[in-house]
Amino acid sequence: MHIKSSLLSLTMAIVSVAPVNADSTLPAYLDESRPLDERVEDALSRMTLREKVAMCHAEGKFASPGVARLGIPDLWMSDGPHGVRAEINWNDWGYSGRTNDSITAFPALTALAATWNKDLSYDYGNALAEEALYREKDMMLGPGVNIYRTPLNGRNFEYMGEDPYLAGELVVPYIKGMQKNGVAACVKHYALNNQELWRGHIDVNLSDRALHEIYLPAFKRAVVDGGSWSIMGAYNKFRGQHCCHNEVLLNKILKDDWGFDGVVVTDWGGAHDTREAALYGLDLEMGSYTNGLTSESAFTTDDYYLANPYLNMLQAGEVPMSTLDDKVRRLLRLNFRTAMNRNKPFGSVATPEHYAVAEQIGNEAIVLLKNSPVSKKEGKLLPIQPDKYDRILVVGDNATRNLMAGGGSSELKPKDIVTPLDGLKAIYGDKIEYTQGYAAGRPMYGHADVIPAAVTDSLRAKAVEMAKNAGLVIMVGGLNKNHFQDCEGGDRLEYALPFGQPELITELQAANPNLVVVLLTGNAVEMPWAAKVPAIVQGWYLGSMAGKSLAGVLSGNINPSGKLPFSFPARLEDNGAHHFGTISYPGDSIRQDYKEDILVGYRWHDTKKIPALFPFGHGLSYTDFTYSNPRADSKTLTDGGTLTASVTVKNTGDCEGKEIVQLYIGDDKASVLRPLKELKAFAKVSLQPGQEETVTFPVTVDDLKFYDEATSSWKAEPGKFTIYIGASSTDIKAKIPFELK
Ligand code: BGC
Repeated sequence: MHIKSSLLSLTMAIVSVAPVNADSTLPAYLDESRPLDERVEDALSRMTLREKVAMCHAEGKFASPGVARLGIPDLWMSDGPHGVRAEINWNDWGYSGRTNDSITAFPALTALAATWNKDLSYDYGNALAEEALYREKDMMLGPGVNIYRTPLNGRNFEYMGEDPYLAGELVVPYIKGMQKNGVAACVKHYALNNQELWRGHIDVNLSDRALHEIYLPAFKRAVVDGGSWSIMGAYNKFRGQHCCHNEVLLNKILKDDWGFDGVVVTDWGGAHDTREAALYGLDLEMGSYTNGLTSESAFTTDDYYLANPYLNMLQAGEVPMSTLDDKVRRLLRLNFRTAMNRNKPFGSVATPEHYAVAEQIGNEAIVLLKNSPVSKKEGKLLPIQPDKYDRILVVGDNATRNLMAGGGSSELKPKDIVTPLDGLKAIYGDKIEYTQGYAAGRPMYGHADVIPAAVTDSLRAKAVEMAKNAGLVIMVGGLNKNHFQDCEGGDRLEYALPFGQPELITELQAANPNLVVVLLTGNAVEMPWAAKVPAIVQGWYLGSMAGKSLAGVLSGNINPSGKLPFSFPARLEDNGAHHFGTISYPGDSIRQDYKEDILVGYRWHDTKKIPALFPFGHGLSYTDFTYSNPRADSKTLTDGGTLTASVTVKNTGDCEGKEIVQLYIGDDKASVLRPLKELKAFAKVSLQPGQEETVTFPVTVDDLKFYDEATSSWKAEPGKFTIYIGASSTDIKAKIPFELK
């Protein structure tokens, strides 16, 4: 039994003497019928100075102390956003080698974002919390909502794309689904951790508008509407101060403006100074390397910034006691909501129900980027027509690879994995042949294998030879979780696909035009071959049930309904962050300036008229949808009022399908730079062949506002606006003008 369990049973023992609600002799902090803050004050009043300081820092890699004397249990945490990570040693990063810590790997958060489905996000949070409970975790280190700024960021796969509204809409149900189980979400990484290169010290500078309009809204939604019980500070600096103790981000914006009553946790090793940590909003310090080295430290947790050095400063009167009491109040609140909560369920792990959630998210996440006929005489290449091919060749390392291994802290140890090859074999049996096609090396943290050219050449030659004799070729490639790919601790070195895949795809296509390319990535990649390849599928990282979802979509058992949560630029320099040279990305190693300002993702492509190869919001279906009768119930909107826009969507094809209807709004003329349009609402509708549905979207003045730097407030300027209703950010079906009076 671990320490947490024994402390919890101590609490239970105290409680079982006197049932809650019935015995006034029960200490107030143990009486769950009392208001939370009353219990917090009572517990606080019983604690010694040392007990309070002890609560503010780690005692192990993923645990922080409760108050054993009072029966307040320790807090246990785990990564990460996509599943409960395997157990890590008490005080080093090694895995502890247990045999009872394998779990369900859920799809990565980019995939969740591609579903545009809030109900699935709730199911995700709930299922993950159930697994966390089974593993006796009180707090899950996720979800992440850093905005997708550049396709080179190694951690984009852990986040929810480039649009603050979409990320905000999806993060709220995830948190609610999770926290209803008494497991805290820890939203990360607050804020501006939009690249991995130099993440520990890069000083991010940007305008107030970009901060408030692009990089903060999803965090704000997580706190204000999701009610997240904790938040993780980012490693980087913002305007000269580390984000884990940042006066503006933590004290002013998070705690004062947004009224956050939860706990600010450092990213592991993100604290750098006791005084700042005491004063500028940090509550819980984790993972510090207090010997000043960046490798494992033999120092004890007593040496952490918020341990003995903090105690000394408090005793010397150098920082006020009120800073400590504020931290401890928050930590007690978190503890009572989670570890001390005696009403939470026991949880379950790797159940059929959780696999079904993972699979359903996968089914709705896959994006059909392109689907053309190979020749004029034929129909579209996908879905694979039954009995058309005697031999289907599957090529690619990602068809068989465990894509949950590597990637950094989000690495998972799944109990079961259905690979794409498994999924296809389950449908097509002996018709399937497989060859690796390219080699990708091992997933290792901080360094990458170098693949000899001779290996790449011979794998490619073999695949191309086999392709000549196949009816259909399915290439399952993309990135993986190796260093310099989709992995924490480094950014991608190039926009192109790695491991010789561009050459492989080009030669496969020349050998056999019946080619489907499936990309498993958490990032956009360069596709100079896109015009020649008839079918391209964005398959993300889909976790334990990936192969079922992918084979389901390729075979047509599942009609794809995902849409891109970020733009795929044709060339890297077409992305706003890369347009302004190295000071914008990646910075000069000390600082960087977000020169593209508010024009992130499609806001850049649209406003600058630089089309993306595959735009934000894009995704095809096996059926067709028509949009008709777009209208608004008024030509004007007044402050405090609502205008309702609507459109009728009809499934005119011959199979059931889901369409994501998107509503954007643009300010036609403004006193400040505004993007051409911004996403303000969406709806995912499920339609049978021939069925139609009218979708309505309320629009209010809040949807028209920009952040006014002069007054530090949100402002809408009267005048003409346009509603754009579309099937993507560029496939606009209707424009509806209106005026703000
Ligand atoms: C990552 C966090 C993670 C933490 C604990 C850090 O390196 O940035 O996202 O939660 O480690 O593993």
